[in-house]
Amino acid sequence: MVAKDQDIKPFEDKIQISPCTKLRGSVSIPGDKSISHRLAMLASIAEGESTIANFSTSADCHSTLECLRALGIDPVVRDGTHLTILGRGLTGFRTPGQDLNAGNSGSTLRMLSGILAGQPFTSILSGDASLCRRPMDRVMEPLSRMGARFEAREHKYPPLTVSGTSLRWISYSPTVSSAQVKTAILFAGLLAEGVTEVIERVPTRNHTEIALPQFGAAIEVSPLSVSVTGRKQLHGSEFIVPGDPSSAAFFVVAGLLVPDAELTLHGVGLNPTRIEFFEFVRAMGGRVQFLNLREQNGEPVGDVVVRSSELEGGSIAPHQVPLLIDEIPILAVAGARSRKGLSIRGAQELRVKESDRIAAVVKNLAAMGAEVKELDDGFEVKGNQRLRGTDLESFGDHRIAMAFSVAALLADSPAVIHGADCVKISFPSFFSILHSLRT
Ligand code: S3P
Repeated sequence: MVAKDQDIKPFEDKIQISPCTKLRGSVSIPGDKSISHRLAMLASIAEGESTIANFSTSADCHSTLECLRALGIDPVVRDGTHLTILGRGLTGFRTPGQDLNAGNSGSTLRMLSGILAGQPFTSILSGDASLCRRPMDRVMEPLSRMGARFEAREHKYPPLTVSGTSLRWISYSPTVSSAQVKTAILFAGLLAEGVTEVIERVPTRNHTEIALPQFGAAIEVSPLSVSVTGRKQLHGSEFIVPGDPSSAAFFVVAGLLVPDAELTLHGVGLNPTRIEFFEFVRAMGGRVQFLNLREQNGEPVGDVVVRSSELEGGSIAPHQVPLLIDEIPILAVAGARSRKGLSIRGAQELRVKESDRIAAVVKNLAAMGAEVKELDDGFEVKGNQRLRGTDLESFGDHRIAMAFSVAALLADSPAVIHGADCVKISFPSFFSILHSLRT
């Protein structure tokens, strides 16, 4: 792609973004991070070969592959996104000779802890400074009930030492609504004696439930519970990963709010447990269409067409939060440019993400001149806010960097995002795609 103008200037780790009045184009959205993590882990404990096309290019999913390498698996990536894994069976991992480095990735650490809980060795899971501030007791508690033993800093923070053992089944209702926790328990359940059940209070993303039967696992799913029969051998299979709807969300909001925009985003995952964001912006008046709906490996996929729109504003209730948790930073930006603003409650989980996302959103919106109020479990941003180009912080958090890059397009003068390089955590091609859409 050829740079046509100087609207995006990278200065090492900062990027200057100038305002924009027109966006046009058609792009493919890279593979889903959540699905990629799950498939790589399951392929490693299956028997035989799995191929995974459109595997996520994110640094987070590469952290998963690095951990699997340290466990004796040899994932081969061709052409950047085509992954082949020769699985070694449920307990075929090698005892790692080093700490397993999950980098910035909570999914890697939490989901892998479920598999490591049932291995006949001790391993240490660690990560970067941000990950080492994130709570792991939410997985330690259920996995301890299944028989594993854990040590962690202050009983909850990484590094996490996992002493694996022969696990027994549990029936468990997590206190935090989290698909990572559900997945860690189900992964442990694959190795446990008996039938392990997770009962949810509100639904969370269901990619694990969709993937498991394709590896030959015996599971039963009802609207708020899922159970898996343990110690049944899994087998490798072939997969194509849909585009990541959480990555698409940044371009959806850009397409809605840049005054003259029409964008087509190809191959986006439209699983019902991931489309709450699209439904929410539609309910605010956003012109968002799904075309060419199809299914890949049990996951609904389609193309998303988005056109400039007037957004009304709205409020996000606590029960909606788990289904659009990753889209809240970009929704905050949409709220500031909507007619009536946006409020959100029951989102205290945002405080323990890659950054404290409530504080990060509020600081950056306020720096741009928006009227915004921080709450313990959310925020309220007034509508019709004129956004000022200024210095903005990523706080080392990929979704904050991308949300405020979109805010910069809507500002009245250029803005600089400091620490912009962290977009690589989920979406390395974000800035080049954004650049290609500016006409
Ligand atoms: C994820 C679940 C969510 C989400 C994260 C990915 C997953 O986390 O924020 O980006 O793949 O299961 P929680 O389960 O902690 O809410």
